[in-house]
Amino acid sequence: MAVLPIVGHSHPVLRQKAKRVRNIDGSVQRLIDDMVETMHEVEGVGLAAPQVGVSLRVIVIELPGEETLALVNPQIVKRSGEREVVEGCLSVPGYRGEIKRSVKVVAKGLDRHGREARIRGEELMAQVLEHELDHLNGVLYIDHLESMDKLSKLEPGAEATEI
Ligand code: NI
Repeated sequence: MAVLPIVGHSHPVLRQKAKRVRNIDGSVQRLIDDMVETMHEVEGVGLAAPQVGVSLRVIVIELPGEETLALVNPQIVKRSGEREVVEGCLSVPGYRGEIKRSVKVVAKGLDRHGREARIRGEELMAQVLEHELDHLNGVLYIDHLESMDKLSKLEPGAEATEI
């Protein structure tokens, strides 16, 4: 396993629609392992493959105290509710923004063995699923800001959930 470098927000890969994975082979499983190690290293709660420069539809998520989840070719099949959240992104370091996210999300995809998986997320889990799916579609959370007043610089040492 290896910690991979996270690309900055101006890297074009973050603005591309990531490609579907056709075959979950050893290289995809290695990518998942490396993404999990990278997510742990940077203390994020989620990571999408484009954030490490790989244009493939792969995400990993690990909420505090919960098990690690990897989804290949994920899709959101249902969203409900709306809430305001304060969100940060590992690809946009030093900032956070107030945006709206769904309260509940149902997503489906494949696990690391190619088995179908269905995830029901509420609150933070729903937020992270939407954030990572956005990454696969070339969208950053800053695109959802209603105005620049909703974006703020993080104070040095401030805690923020980065996704
Ligand atoms: Ni992000």
